[in-house]
Amino acid sequence: MKKMTRVALITSGGDCQGLNAAMRGIGKALYNRIANLEIFGMYDGYRGLIDGDYKFMEPKDFAGILTEGGTILGTSRQKYVPGKDIVDDEGNSLIPAMKDTYNRLNLDCLVIMGGNGTQKSAKLLMDAGMNVVTLPKTIDNDIWGTDTTFGFQSAVDIATNVIDYIHSTASSHSRVFVVELMGRDAGWLTLHAGIGSGADIILIPEIPYDISYVIKAIEERRRHGKGFSIVAVAEGAKSVTDQVLTEEESRRRREESKHSTISYEIAAQIEAAIGQEARVTIPGHYQRGGPPCPYDRVLATQFGAAAAELIVNKQYGRMVALQDGAVVSIPLEEAASRTKFLPTDHQLIKVARDIGISFGDC
Ligand code: F6P
Repeated sequence: MKKMTRVALITSGGDCQGLNAAMRGIGKALYNRIANLEIFGMYDGYRGLIDGDYKFMEPKDFAGILTEGGTILGTSRQKYVPGKDIVDDEGNSLIPAMKDTYNRLNLDCLVIMGGNGTQKSAKLLMDAGMNVVTLPKTIDNDIWGTDTTFGFQSAVDIATNVIDYIHSTASSHSRVFVVELMGRDAGWLTLHAGIGSGADIILIPEIPYDISYVIKAIEERRRHGKGFSIVAVAEGAKSVTDQVLTEEESRRRREESKHSTISYEIAAQIEAAIGQEARVTIPGHYQRGGPPCPYDRVLATQFGAAAAELIVNKQYGRMVALQDGAVVSIPLEEAASRTKFLPTDHQLIKVARDIGISFGDC
């Protein structure tokens, strides 16, 4: 009798569209390709592996979930000590408990779907002797080594749609609208949605802005008869003066500010400078919700099948990735080593500048 293969699925960190589609891809491909197989679904990300809280997943569990948003397994965030450990609130390592569950279930591999933080944590589990295959998911598109992640295109669609709808009301009232999109560290989502929706000004973490240039761009539009302006701002955008602050100083500055987020501050600065009404719209987690768009369904299915292929071939310690249109895999340590920021000389930034979009830097 052929040896039993045992695989556990984990969805970790912030959710996004396409997680269920990816699990469906993994589950269907594994059940089709491996005769003696058990798949365990860990509840709430690493929490399930820590607590030994899981369900056995049969082929029927992977049916009917292609278009479902979120994750049927649930997710959570864990405290990560950079490059060293995953710990509880008291600072105790949680890796031994995870290894215990791994050994107790006699697992061959963990398939971990996650963003930047999750890839780094997965690398720690690999270093602790567990076999790991990972998939890149996040609406931020900031995972190193892959051209894109699933969740990103769905969020771009939603964010673009939000700004499309804002356009008509902004135009009717001749107002400035500051639309704040997700992206703490990287501006991919804001750049794509900003260009896709015809935003006039795009502010992203990678290009510190000077508010006087933002105001200049709005005034120039007014001089050309455009009474309204749309500013697309990534939540992590920083002014030139704030970019020198440490993480701790930035946190304190936000706490002490009367503006809860960067977009309220920018709107207030615009109103104070030119007296034009400025409103703020923050779609927030709406950007991560609902069904994956068709592109993400296809991508997540491809990634899922590729993860199954790695397991069939016992190629562990790798992240599935998209490079130049091809699904490949790269060493997990490479994927976990850095963040994929938006290069400031990226072709899309040049395109945006060519058509007159301001980045608040000149
Ligand atoms: O990393 C994905 C992301 O949606 C970021 O864009 C955002 O800053 C963050 O997660 C929000 O996290 P939470 O869901 O924990 O509020």
